Amino acid sequence: MLLNLSEIRQQFPALQETDAQGQPYVFFDGPGGTQVPRQVMTAMNRYLTEANANHGGYFITSQRNDQIIDMTRQAMADFLNAPSANEIVFGQNMTSLTFNLSRAMARLFQAGDEIIVTRLDHDANVAPWLALEEQGIVIRWIDFEVSDCRLNLTQLADSLSEKTKLVAVGYASNAVGTVNPIAQIVELVRQKSSAWVWVDAVHYAPHGPIDVQELGCDFLVCSAYKFFGPHIGILWGRYELLEQIPAYKVRPADDDPPGKFETGTQNHEGIAGANAAIAYLADLGRSYGQSATASSRYPDRRGDLKQAMQTIMSDERDLFTTLLNGLQAIPEITIYGLTNPAEFAERCPTLAFTHAHHSPAEIAAYLAERGIFVWDGHYYAISVIDRLGLAETGGAVRVGLAHYNTPAEVERLIETVHEMS
Ligand SMILES: Cc1ncc(COP(=O)(O)O)c(C=O)c1O
Repeated sequence: MLLNLSEIRQQFPALQETDAQGQPYVFFDGPGGTQVPRQVMTAMNRYLTEANANHGGYFITSQRNDQIIDMTRQAMADFLNAPSANEIVFGQNMTSLTFNLSRAMARLFQAGDEIIVTRLDHDANVAPWLALEEQGIVIRWIDFEVSDCRLNLTQLADSLSEKTKLVAVGYASNAVGTVNPIAQIVELVRQKSSAWVWVDAVHYAPHGPIDVQELGCDFLVCSAYKFFGPHIGILWGRYELLEQIPAYKVRPADDDPPGKFETGTQNHEGIAGANAAIAYLADLGRSYGQSATASSRYPDRRGDLKQAMQTIMSDERDLFTTLLNGLQAIPEITIYGLTNPAEFAERCPTLAFTHAHHSPAEIAAYLAERGIFVWDGHYYAISVIDRLGLAETGGAVRVGLAHYNTPAEVERLIETVHEMS
């Protein structure tokens, strides 16, 4: 392990919370939302004290507000390696941003145009596209292999044509953890069509570095509350496409990106908190990266963020191996998704399992009573759970590791599941 977990955990007030017996809670619910470091709380508090105003005014609080929004746009551009901060659009959450943009894009699409979605995706990257069927858009579905939960790329290649206008694909599955080969998918799309590629990076964002230029996609969406920030959504889109797409907006709002897609007044304190979440990650990268000793290289926030996410990825992989080995040793348990360590680069540390004798809800409730937080059910990944044949039996238990989780917490989970068997 590279990360100093006690130092990291000290920064997260929620991780100090205990039950009535003084036993700390175990947060394996990160895929539903991660905990936040103190500096995020401080930034939101400060925003509300010193900068709480609407944008565009001459007075000091409005000017501070605008500065914070600009700073966060640049921070998010660094996090995603976007070429320009003007390509960053803030919104309520990923789902709302996707509905907003899908509706706007549809003004450019014709009946008979095609959109490709996948069965491996969260419904937030499916339903907004399915809604366009009502105007004659044809939806094509890409399946995944049940045995290892990898997308069927042959089917994708066969489904692409000049009729394809958009391919909506997840970076990582919030149910079974598969990380999709986005750069390869983009290449495939480019060979066969002029379709846009829309990437849902909500689940991937807390687990690895994102580089939209390297991926080559056209749009990418994520949510700050999944990577140690508050509840806001973020969209990156190529500037010329954002310019081209006719926004649903009020007339006095900006005509240019990113403002034209930022419907109404934003969650300014959330934006301030997202800036602090990026600062937390950059600090972490600086502590564990080469720039820790090469202070002349600072400020290289992009480099620090990349370093942070690579360090997180490496440590999470070790922790995931402990989790997987422990659960695999329990004969009553079935695990879904990739389990071969040689293929761990193709998954993130999110594990879905079922038990031969207990329903997912029973397991989640048993764990919850013992202070261990996991999700059960479908977590809105309804077609994944359906395709795995689990829709009628309560879905699966999902254990989601984050970088602040410890080997001792994983052992505690494994022992508790053992007790049930
Ligand atoms: C993979 C994935 N996509 C999309 C979403 C929806 O995100 P939001 O809550 O920001 O709308 C989630 C939320 O759990 C998710 O895990």
